[in-house]
Amino acid sequence: MMNGKTALVTGASRGIGRAIALRLAREGMNVAIVYAGNTAAAEETAQGVREAGAQANCYACDVADEAAVGALCKRVAAEMGPIYALVNNAGITRDKLAAQMKEEDFDAVLDVNLKGAFHFIRHTYSGFLRQRAGRIVNISSVVGLMGNAGQANYAASKAGLIGLTKSIARELAPRGITVNAVAPGFIDTDMTRVLPEAAKDALTAQIPLKRLGSAQDVAEVVAFLCSDGAGYLTGTVIPVDGGMAM
Ligand code: NAI
Repeated sequence: MMNGKTALVTGASRGIGRAIALRLAREGMNVAIVYAGNTAAAEETAQGVREAGAQANCYACDVADEAAVGALCKRVAAEMGPIYALVNNAGITRDKLAAQMKEEDFDAVLDVNLKGAFHFIRHTYSGFLRQRAGRIVNISSVVGLMGNAGQANYAASKAGLIGLTKSIARELAPRGITVNAVAPGFIDTDMTRVLPEAAKDALTAQIPLKRLGSAQDVAEVVAFLCSDGAGYLTGTVIPVDGGMAM
């Protein structure tokens, strides 16, 4: 049963993370909403979770800051009980062709997208071992599977998440904790709204289902992975991409 258990979702103030928080709340999960800086947006997510009848607390935290993540995980466990589902969703892009990409662009993306997930896994690890149950879902990307010109940093971070997922899946499997990745394709959120219409049309043409995905499309799969019914899936990478990467 997911009902009454606690989920921690990073980057839950908007976009895919918000849709995941609301979807898990519909299953009765209480949600720790971790966000970077927009308190009003995080509070809007929290309001939606409460309207679904679950509890929500908002926590501002830079996922790239290991000390802050360590303190946060302790705080969430104290305030909301043991974390049953960890969803590493926070992510950023700093797109440039590699020749123009500065080391700081590379590092910033790796620090948030890959190390951010590692920090949360490290600081929830012993709690998961104690529970002998739980779910970790890492939000990767089709770009981690296929690569993308102008996204060497992002693709490396998202491919890295897949290796991280499989390694932690092997470590935690003996205790019944599952660890999976979801690889969304082209999803209509703030992250992709900045793209010019022509670029969006060209991308849509490459998607067999001929439409962008929605945050809800991703949230449905994450909710399934967090459910009891997904107990025999671990170390998998599930594309949610309208057939783009097959
Ligand atoms: P978004 O830009 O709308 O939201 C990102 C969220 O991450 C925000 O809530 C923001 O506060 C949070 N965040 C960013 N940096 C943070 C930090 N240092 N510490 C804490 N929180 C931080 O992005 P979107 O589209 O909702 O993406 C969510 C995830 O899905 C990301 O990991 C992204 O890479 C991935 N994804 C998105 C796709 C898309 O087409 N939109 C496709 C494939 C993957």
